Amino acid sequence: MSEEKDQEQPGGTSRGEFLKDDLTVEKTATLEGSPKAIRLMVNGVTYELTEGSEVKPNHTLLHTIRETLHLTGTKISCDYGWCGRCVVLIDGKPALSCLLLTMECVGKNITTIEGLSSGGKLHPVQQAFVDHSALQCGICTPSQILQIKALLEKNPNPTEDQIREAISPTICRCGGPYKLVAEAILDMAKEEGKNG
Ligand code: FES
Ligand code: FES
Repeated sequence: MSEEKDQEQPGGTSRGEFLKDDLTVEKTATLEGSPKAIRLMVNGVTYELTEGSEVKPNHTLLHTIRETLHLTGTKISCDYGWCGRCVVLIDGKPALSCLLLTMECVGKNITTIEGLSSGGKLHPVQQAFVDHSALQCGICTPSQILQIKALLEKNPNPTEDQIREAISPTICRCGGPYKLVAEAILDMAKEEGKNG
């Protein structure tokens, strides 16, 4: 794997089980010719990955992000589209990374939770979660933060209902600090409004 800074910007069987059965894929790639490089843009960095080994046709984006790029802020939980804890942003919109094939994401702008902070400073949404202790174990937190970031891009002054709706696809196994999350974001929006 090589990486380079992008100059323009940044039901049943689980996916994990499915991915173990990939020997046939590797053989096919070898027989069909030299492996190609594919480029994946994550958090403003373009990663050059080898098709057929680092990225196989059956690899999910979740698998690639965690196992190949080692960006483990994106959480793996159900691995089949039920829990909503593996959210990333694809071209700014929330998506379940366990349901996307990596090859489908070539040419897209992918943002994971690691891409939000800048210069050692947390993103305002991350800071609001910290300031309001709006999390328990934190497994659902990266997804919620990204869902709220996407909401705020469209609507900088959401209502509590809109905040709750934005994070509703992500199931919190700790009982859900949903009220604290809503309070955190409402307070943050109010402060940002005051500061212009
Ligand atoms: S891990 Fe993707 S929805 Fe549960
Ligand atoms: S805080 Fe633990 S899963 Fe939500």
